Amino acid sequence: MLFPPFIFFLAFANAAQLAFPGAEGFGRNARGGREGSSYVVTSLADDGPGTLREGLKEPGKIITFKVGGIIRIKARIVIPKSTTILGQTAPSPGITVYGNGWSASGADDSIVRYIRIRMGKVGTDKKDAMGIAHGKNIIFDHVSISWGRDETFSINGNNATNITISNCIIGQGLESHSAGGLIQTNGGVSLFRNLYIDNKTRNPKVKGKNDYRNNVVYNWGGGGGYIAGGDSEGQSQCMIVGNYFISGPSTGSTSAFTRGNENFHAFTQGNYYDADKDGTLNGKAMADDSKNFAGMNVVKIPFPYPGPDKVLTAKEALDTVLREAGASKPRDAVDGRMVAEVRSWGKVGQLIKSEDEGPMAGLMVEMEKMVDSNGDGIPDWYQRERGWDVGDGKGGMVVERSGYTRLEEWANSLVE
Ligand SMILES: *[C@@H]1O[C@H](CO)[C@@H](O)[C@H](O)[C@H]1NC(C)=O
Ligand SMILES: *[C@@H]1O[C@H](CO)[C@@H](O)[C@H](O)[C@H]1NC(C)=O
Ligand SMILES: *[C@@H]1O[C@H](CO)[C@@H](O)[C@H](O)[C@H]1NC(C)=O
Repeated sequence: MLFPPFIFFLAFANAAQLAFPGAEGFGRNARGGREGSSYVVTSLADDGPGTLREGLKEPGKIITFKVGGIIRIKARIVIPKSTTILGQTAPSPGITVYGNGWSASGADDSIVRYIRIRMGKVGTDKKDAMGIAHGKNIIFDHVSISWGRDETFSINGNNATNITISNCIIGQGLESHSAGGLIQTNGGVSLFRNLYIDNKTRNPKVKGKNDYRNNVVYNWGGGGGYIAGGDSEGQSQCMIVGNYFISGPSTGSTSAFTRGNENFHAFTQGNYYDADKDGTLNGKAMADDSKNFAGMNVVKIPFPYPGPDKVLTAKEALDTVLREAGASKPRDAVDGRMVAEVRSWGKVGQLIKSEDEGPMAGLMVEMEKMVDSNGDGIPDWYQRERGWDVGDGKGGMVVERSGYTRLEEWANSLVE
């Protein structure tokens, strides 16, 4: 029997309950599968008993993982309503879903954390790696999404409401489209502390009600970094605060922001731009005027959106994103490669047509496991990610600022 105060407490707790401790932004109250049942993934197969796909057949599940590794999918994956996917429960190296894209259209009240969604050239042509056409109260946190054949992460349509994308890596949209994604809805989307990298265009392209704070954008191409609505006559109300833009090898003279107009109302503050590709981090604060922001209507009063608990400076955001964005417990070599590109401060990066092209080698699983060319016990990709010299074989014993040797830092990063 429940006593009245307890019933009252439940009602109160439900109203304010966060998707998880620290959930922020428009999608922070997504309930996930809390009122449903549990499902444990025990197989890395594409479908059948114990698979992720099986767990997503019905709404209302909290999904955890007894296995870690690569799930190779053929058909796209669709997230139903009231679903929680807790990728952080998988044993090392975590969960990578490779081979096609996902849809979260209609995934009302869903929570997705700590997985890698890598679509790739074998995925369905002209489809997004992750797409949401409609749906409400959805949060993606610490998810790595790459190799979309249309957009990489796209939210498009005014029935998409109250959505958060936080601490994610959205990178390497495949040519020829090579796009970060559309984020176009009047329903409210928060983008906090994400890394947009190696996309020719749309990092993202924004329309409507949008809260863009503490993101890092690196190596956009000719299409543009942050695209403000295009030629839209629709009204947009956007926060653009504490973001760091860094040009890379694919970035031409295109500035960080493009295609704003007087219908695009933006509160801008504390944004930095490092345009010179000189191999050092030396971004400059962007003055908050319309000229710097591609002709937007720059407003003086912030929009009253549910922001991050702590708004970081652009430099703090950069440090945090490089340390934590994506499915980072632990990171795989693909994300490691992307983070290392940022740390080249303009020297390294490229647009790719295929995940097998150039410096990329598909999922890079072999590289991740094996290659330790100086024999110090730390894989090369992790050394590169940290900006350490792979040179002399003694590097593992160098003591870092943390007080730990590099070897220990590598080991600690596996169990953070
Ligand atoms: C939103 O959903 C309603 C009801 O399902 C539908 O009639 C309308 O066309 C949708 N609007 C958009 C912009 O998708
Ligand atoms: C989105 O969230 C706001 C603020 O919590 C709420 O007022 C609104 O009804 C929500 N929209 C939908 C479609 O649930
Ligand atoms: C990003 O998108 C553009 C445009 O589609 C594409 O040309 C480019 O190759 C992509 N970048 C990467 C790194 O894949």
